[in-house]
Amino acid sequence: MPDPTDTPTQTSPWWRDAAIYQVYLRSFADGDGDGVGDIAGLRSRLPYLRDLGVDALWITPWYPSPMADAGYDVADYRDIDPLFGTLPEAEKLVDEAHELGLRVLIDLVPNHSSDQHAWFKAALAANPGSPERARYWFRPGRGPHGEQPPNNWSSRFGGPAWTRAHPSDPHDTDWYLHLFTPQQPDLNWNNPDVREEFEDVLRFWFDRGVDGFRIDVAHGLAKHPDLPDLEHPDVNGKTVIPAGQHPHWDRDEVPDIYRTWRQVADEYPGDRAFVAEAWVTHPDRLTRYLGDGVLQTAFNFDYLECPWDTTQLRIVIDTTLTAHAAVAAPATWVLSNHDVVRHVTRYGRAETSLHDAWRLHGTPTDLQLGTRRARAAALLTLALPGNAYIYQGEELGLWEIEDLPEEVLQDPARLHSGLLRDGCRVPLPWIGNQPPFGFTTGPGTPWLPQPAAWTDHTAAAEQHDPASMLTLYREALRTRRRLNTTAEQTITWREAPLGALAFDRGPTWRCVVNTGTQDVLLTGQLLLASEPLDDNRILPPDTTAWIAP
Ligand code: GLC
Repeated sequence: MPDPTDTPTQTSPWWRDAAIYQVYLRSFADGDGDGVGDIAGLRSRLPYLRDLGVDALWITPWYPSPMADAGYDVADYRDIDPLFGTLPEAEKLVDEAHELGLRVLIDLVPNHSSDQHAWFKAALAANPGSPERARYWFRPGRGPHGEQPPNNWSSRFGGPAWTRAHPSDPHDTDWYLHLFTPQQPDLNWNNPDVREEFEDVLRFWFDRGVDGFRIDVAHGLAKHPDLPDLEHPDVNGKTVIPAGQHPHWDRDEVPDIYRTWRQVADEYPGDRAFVAEAWVTHPDRLTRYLGDGVLQTAFNFDYLECPWDTTQLRIVIDTTLTAHAAVAAPATWVLSNHDVVRHVTRYGRAETSLHDAWRLHGTPTDLQLGTRRARAAALLTLALPGNAYIYQGEELGLWEIEDLPEEVLQDPARLHSGLLRDGCRVPLPWIGNQPPFGFTTGPGTPWLPQPAAWTDHTAAAEQHDPASMLTLYREALRTRRRLNTTAEQTITWREAPLGALAFDRGPTWRCVVNTGTQDVLLTGQLLLASEPLDDNRILPPDTTAWIAP
């Protein structure tokens, strides 16, 4: 079996500059006809991902799960949900991906398990104060009969973060903590069972050849031991509490957990790696998770949240690179994922930052403008040093589906939190003129309905169209791979007119981005542009060019 590290154009270690494709498994491709994407569907489309030119895949949770939060509620960390396939199929997938030169990251969910996990069932069946309950956060309720939650924390999805264990049992006044849905009880990372269990889970999957893990809610694992009330309750998940002092987000002790994980990863050959999903208040907080002896990478959400504006983009790029350089860790760049509004839609609105994206749901959107900016943003993202993440469908230019009928919506977050995450999770269009666009062979229908307007956005339709988003991504990924072999891992800013950004990655690769309203003059030899240029010396608004200066 060829080792992906042998790919001659890739630098080592691979996690320093990989392009990583996020497979949202239930919406990628359906191989068994039930309308839900699965491992068989993914295996059948691996050649598409190789041809796209990415280096690795991140596959969202595939474990047995009651699917209270689309699989982020794990009932068994060492198996595959029948909806998605079997463990032998998962093993085959990893091998086949490796044969095509693709690495595989899987999603680990350590902050909480499912309420159907054997440990939680045992905890509910056990008494208050029992060792079974000590693996989670059980606490007696407040009030004379324990009828009020132990503290005032809120779930990220709205409502209290506590649910009573046995509401009808007056002798058991325990409540349990869940920072997400009540079906996702938080694990207690002070408990040695929990730590040992996850180290073993890491080994279970490393033994099966996976190249690494995306760590879900990586900033949430430590809780203040006294579980104090929040003085300033979080608003929409955003905190006003000074860094490191929040009782359950990004506490100073969290990164220590990952030191042990890094040791486990380093026991294995082949540069196994992690990427943390850590929502923190500043890049300097993020880099505490990174560097020698800690994790290799973490998502840089400041970039994902940033509006389409050169001044703000430049600030985010600078602060990100400076913070990461201090710990010698590569930065990551991401524009979309399964939790946020697709960026074609975000960029097509008057307000382009992620902060406003859900509030603006259903407001007028210029998809043509959004697409043009998304093309320009893709070339910016892929020119930055570090890892670039691509959320499935962004390479087809898919936009947010904002008119899904209420009865098909499945995301639990929408009910109480203002988060609307179904619209970015609609199954991919592969081929054909009407839904299901080859996503499923039926008889099941796609678990979320696809819009008829995706006819022109199927992978098959875009494949041979020189003007398509897919063609742009393919060319950009191929060119990036080549340029990365000689590019510097830093950027040098070049003078650029107002509304534009220009930076060099060494002497052979310049990226010029125009987010303004005026044309920008280009010098040097054009390598790639996000739009066809009438004149290779003129970069129009909302366009990016790569140049050999
Ligand atoms: C992460 C996932 C999200 C999930 C949440 C709870 O933020 O990306 O989809 O709902 O964690 O596990």
